[in-house]
Amino acid sequence: MRPIIPDYLAEVLRDVESDTSGEPAGYIPELAAADPDRLGAAFAMLDGEVYGAGDIDTEFTIQSISKPFVHALALADHGFAPVLAKVGVEPSGEAFNEISLETGTGRPRNPMINAGAITVHSLAGAEDLTPEQRVERVRQGLSAFAGRRLTMDDAVCASEMEHAHRNLAIAHMLRSHDVLTKDPEAVVEGYTRQCSVLVTTRDLAIMAATLANRGTNPLSGEQVVPEPVVRQVLSVMFSCGMYDAAGDWATQVGIPAKSGVAGGLIGALPGQIGIATFSPRLDRHGNSVRGVSLFERFSSDMGLHVMETPAAARAVVRSHHVVGSGPDAPRVLQLQGGIGFAGAERVVQEAMTIPPSDTRVALDLTLVHSIDDVARRVLLEVARRLTLSGHDVYLVDPESAMADPDPGDGGRVTVVNTMDQVVNPTRDDLTRTGLRAAGRPGPRS
Ligand code: DON
Repeated sequence: MRPIIPDYLAEVLRDVESDTSGEPAGYIPELAAADPDRLGAAFAMLDGEVYGAGDIDTEFTIQSISKPFVHALALADHGFAPVLAKVGVEPSGEAFNEISLETGTGRPRNPMINAGAITVHSLAGAEDLTPEQRVERVRQGLSAFAGRRLTMDDAVCASEMEHAHRNLAIAHMLRSHDVLTKDPEAVVEGYTRQCSVLVTTRDLAIMAATLANRGTNPLSGEQVVPEPVVRQVLSVMFSCGMYDAAGDWATQVGIPAKSGVAGGLIGALPGQIGIATFSPRLDRHGNSVRGVSLFERFSSDMGLHVMETPAAARAVVRSHHVVGSGPDAPRVLQLQGGIGFAGAERVVQEAMTIPPSDTRVALDLTLVHSIDDVARRVLLEVARRLTLSGHDVYLVDPESAMADPDPGDGGRVTVVNTMDQVVNPTRDDLTRTGLRAAGRPGPRS
């Protein structure tokens, strides 16, 4: 069989190819010389599979796409409070290079605009690093996100530094408010070197997939930053990543994203996919024109908007029935899929309808592939309360979907592998399965 996704990507690239509107970034001479017709798109799945079409192995500079990743490094290196003390998380609704700081504190509004990103650069790595060591911390951190050693384009960096008056002005303002505590010129040079890190569309898709994968790089398996850092960074990308186009993006595409003036664009959909596109012509916000069109297509074709309502919660209770007849006939809640809070709440509602006379109750997890921590606690509380109201509770859990199934505090569950063991229990079955997990009370028989 021919692979489906590369064919789909190639088709979508063909659809946007004729759009030559927009201009490559003109304010960095070396970028203006880039081939404006380059076009590529890549999907990185969370198991490390990468699909692509077009120019996905062409290198270009990462530019502002570095901002969320370096924000992640700063949060991982220092914790949340010191970073939040210097840079806010409010959308500014302004252009990326706007010279604006929060009144009163002088804090940049968020880490995606240049003022915030310049400050965040100064917070990557230990406080006492030299400017060169800080750049190296950033290069090494970005490499960990990409899963390969990244290098820098010195020509693009030098070309931007010759025209970096605006960023220098921003940095001096930040210094005057003591938001920056280092030499502003060295910080701008470090930030500009950060922007000149060379990546391919394939790299960017993997970097985005690392964010989508709770901070673990799907290729190397390395946990690059902790999960709470990823949540913070994705939230900021969602509200601020597309600058003064963030609201349009949030409604039309709905994927946490970040653009760069070399033409790259990434999106990270938590738990699903990392996406990257490359096309150098930019719109008036500094976002890639064809990149935005590609993301609009991907989001609508594949239902990737984060606000799409998942069907899973409604479908968690597959059936609720009694097997057989008589006083010992077990009542079964057959559950399915991945269970989060909303799914567990459905189980609570069903459990409340169980008549007290039905002594034996089974939660059948055979078709459940995952139970998150909140759902686990809710389901075990269901089991505990059922026990306290006089029921014998069974978990049918052949794949051990329920971690540590101990309801605690007066609760008791018997874990078995099949419904048959609930319907026709032998003393052998119960002794073996009831003691399967450590810390679990033995079966009542
Ligand atoms: O600070 C700058 O001007 C650039 N080096 C990065 C700007 C950028 O990529 C803006 N994003 N679209």
